[in-house]
Amino acid sequence: MKGQILQVLRRSEEYVSGECLARQLGISRVAVWKHVQRLKQDGYKIEIAPGGYRLVQSPDLLLPCEFPELEQRIRHFLELGSTMDVARELAKKGAPAGTIIIAETQTKGRGRLGREWLSPRGGIYFTLILRPCISPAYAPRINLMAAVAVALTMRELFLLHAEVKWPNDVLIGGKKVCGILAEMDAELDRINYVNLGIGINANVPPQQLVETATSLQAELGREISRRDFLRALLTELEAWQERLMDSMLLQEWKRLSATLQRQVKIVAADQVVEGDAIDIDAYGALLVRNRSGEINRILAGDCVHLRERGGDKT
Ligand code: BTN
Repeated sequence: MKGQILQVLRRSEEYVSGECLARQLGISRVAVWKHVQRLKQDGYKIEIAPGGYRLVQSPDLLLPCEFPELEQRIRHFLELGSTMDVARELAKKGAPAGTIIIAETQTKGRGRLGREWLSPRGGIYFTLILRPCISPAYAPRINLMAAVAVALTMRELFLLHAEVKWPNDVLIGGKKVCGILAEMDAELDRINYVNLGIGINANVPPQQLVETATSLQAELGREISRRDFLRALLTELEAWQERLMDSMLLQEWKRLSATLQRQVKIVAADQVVEGDAIDIDAYGALLVRNRSGEINRILAGDCVHLRERGGDKT
């Protein structure tokens, strides 16, 4: 309901009467007043005058009420250790697919391969609980799907040349703007859940970034609306989940790829492979042709782009 009140107030420059809000939303004027009080507690500046209510300022927070159609599915926290931990607890307790855990900042953000994921205010950090009916062997496609959704959202909203890097990063100009971490609980033949964690350097100023990273703010020279970006991304993710097993996903990943047709070095658990990244297969594995012409199929590992177009490594 808070989300719907915000929608009505945002549509109007003028004061909106309690009666008008009550009629539009099908609730009493007293209920409207109570929801407005709750919005004020959340940090919204709402003027109350004889003419009704007027929204003056919204807090820069990714609150559930900012996503009216998804409000019930979102758990929002100002600070967390990691959204992955909360997601795991919720998923184990049977939280439905589509549950989203958002944190404004994380004190123990996790990256792939046990790395730390710095999570200052201004970024976007969330975990989406998925329960896909696919064989666990195809689970790496979830990473590809998430990277495609992020890159397309950045391209569509900001016309930025976002590219995907195998297995699950998004780059702009060869620098990392988004990291993706998927944690799975599965049996041999079925997935119980996949928690898909996405971290985006959104409004992170350039001086806070390491050399190999970038942010949307750094690329655009201005802050973005994290709310609009996340809304668009969640819509894109919803659409691509439907196409998880569709060949179109692989086609789109290849089209957006910064990895294919490059020289790469892959550090996997049991081997290091250097060669040309020539393709990905239906399971999301990277096919790398080494100097002897052998083709290695790599399912997971750390990927370094050698001889990037501009000459640097990413
Ligand atoms: C990587 O590039 O290594 C993956 C980074 C994933 C970061 C996100 S932020 C939201 C979620 N919570 C975490 O602790 N990690 C993921």
